[in-house]
Amino acid sequence: MKPDQPSFLLAHLSDPHLPLTPGVTPRDFLGKRTLSYLSWHLNRRHRHRRETLDALTADLAQQGPDHIAVTGDLTNLGLETEYLQAHAWLDDLGEPENVSVIPGNHEAMVKGAWERGGAHWRPFWQGDSPARNQAHAFPYLRVRGQVALMGLSTAIASRPGLAVGALGEAQLARLAPLLARAREAGLCRVLMIHHPPLAGTVPARKALLDAPALQGVLAREGAELLLHGHSHRSHLQEIDTADGAAPVIGVPSASSMHHEPAAYNLYRIATRPEGWALSVKTRRLSAARQIEALQGFETVIARSHAGGNAP
Ligand SMILES: [Fe+2]
Repeated sequence: MKPDQPSFLLAHLSDPHLPLTPGVTPRDFLGKRTLSYLSWHLNRRHRHRRETLDALTADLAQQGPDHIAVTGDLTNLGLETEYLQAHAWLDDLGEPENVSVIPGNHEAMVKGAWERGGAHWRPFWQGDSPARNQAHAFPYLRVRGQVALMGLSTAIASRPGLAVGALGEAQLARLAPLLARAREAGLCRVLMIHHPPLAGTVPARKALLDAPALQGVLAREGAELLLHGHSHRSHLQEIDTADGAAPVIGVPSASSMHHEPAAYNLYRIATRPEGWALSVKTRRLSAARQIEALQGFETVIARSHAGGNAP
């Protein structure tokens, strides 16, 4: 990996919550899904609109990103029919090697939903080294250019009224050596995670339960950039890592104008002798349903291992 490598353009969208397929009624399920169905029927179906999502993804395609990160909550109830619908949407977004998906809490609405439905999306979460099975597949690693994309799963079934997530000890144990090896390879480590990794970003009932354990791994092994969804709002924060501060960036829902205008981000990552230059641009849908390009910002993520400089 050399500093004169071409820059890498990564698009990031999240929480599309594709509309429920026609004909789904509470008779099709029981338990937590019933409450979530009512929530969808009363509120979310009016907020998450396919035409909003389609306007964003049409614009995204015109930007020609090298890769697209989708950070979870493609579904509402985690039903098989929703997984199939989302698979078709992912296929339209791009080739599986150029689109990376991770699950959100809605994919794990009830126990077993992600394990069954996630298999349909496998080409989009399959790492460069295929895992033995879905349970061991996260975090996955996909190296593209100078970037090491790591997909984490925080999808766990939780009680009605909760939308918490957790990585679990086993996944965190697998993450540490991935981070170390990517650092040795001089790569820019980009982590994709549905739940925000910093406390207080979302209310406790929506939190990442083992956020402190993740922060501990990052404090030991380092990372360059973390991308998340879940809150349906934009965020720009920083997290301390072994190799220095790393930006933590959240995007709003790609299909809703409710909390904030629907939006996606573009990250241009370029190797510099002192680290990685990161340019962040947001493209969102205006009330007049036009795409707006926001000002954005540029920063340098200072890292000694950039460009293979690590001893
Ligand atoms: Fe979520």
